[in-house]
Amino acid sequence: MPARRTHLALCGFLLCCVISSGSTAGSEGAAEDAPHVFVALQTRNSAHLLPNFFGYLENLDYPKSRISVWVRTDHNLDDTPAVLEAWCTAVRDVYLSVDCQHSKKVVFDVGYPPPDTDEQYRHTASVQQTALEAGRRSGAQYFFVLNTDNFITNPQTLRLLIAEDRVVTAPMLNSEGNAAFSNFWMDQDSLGYYKRHEDYLPILQRNFTGCFRAPVLLPPLLIHLSSPQSQSLIYHPPLEGFNGPTDDIVHFAYSAKMGVITHPHSLYLSLSTLPCRSGHVHL
Ligand SMILES: *[C@@H]1O[C@H](CO)[C@@H](O)[C@H](O)[C@H]1NC(C)=O
Repeated sequence: MPARRTHLALCGFLLCCVISSGSTAGSEGAAEDAPHVFVALQTRNSAHLLPNFFGYLENLDYPKSRISVWVRTDHNLDDTPAVLEAWCTAVRDVYLSVDCQHSKKVVFDVGYPPPDTDEQYRHTASVQQTALEAGRRSGAQYFFVLNTDNFITNPQTLRLLIAEDRVVTAPMLNSEGNAAFSNFWMDQDSLGYYKRHEDYLPILQRNFTGCFRAPVLLPPLLIHLSSPQSQSLIYHPPLEGFNGPTDDIVHFAYSAKMGVITHPHSLYLSLSTLPCRSGHVHL
């Protein structure tokens, strides 16, 4: 009998929870409680991708009144600035804040094919750093950095990443173009470049599922800005002692690795193989 009563009590409690969360979902009260997320995007020559990208962003199951949007673009050969401006104007009052800027300053030669030089990588890394600093200044609890070809098809992704409760977390993406591409590396060579690891394919093919520690993560990734450990993360300039390539991804990974030394067991990049299929990634 006692066991049966306990069981009934538990049912009643769960029912209450369901009713109360159902009645507040989507209300102002629930939205105010959601952590402030700073969404950062650096984009170029992506007019063909932006409509899909923004569609998926808007589709996230997360209160827009708790999302700040920050977008920077430069060195375009297509209509990216116009597409961006149209979207940013349309959603200006929908999100907590919308800060989109098109810089016409020429930092490197534009041409086709686009140059692939240290100067360009340095520029990209410094814009990423500007984004991270803007996120920190905004007081947001989370920094969610994306690339335009990250199509987040699972609307729960942001909520699931926040629930992982780690300093840096990425949802694993599958690429539509190349089945072996994704947004994580499991190993690096001595200079910090990509190196294949035996766990890479089983993780990519979801034979191993769960959350993994990864030395290098590419966007989309979520940084928990309110965690003190995230303070040591940096895109540019690379931390002292770094002697690898000029690349924001590798600089960032190095700062996370150094952070592990400073804060053992607390700062590491983690990869979550969420049960979603997000795609279209290029490394
Ligand atoms: C993953 O599992 C599938 C189905 O069992 C198998 O065919 C495939 O070879 C596995 N992949 C890896 C990398 O182990």
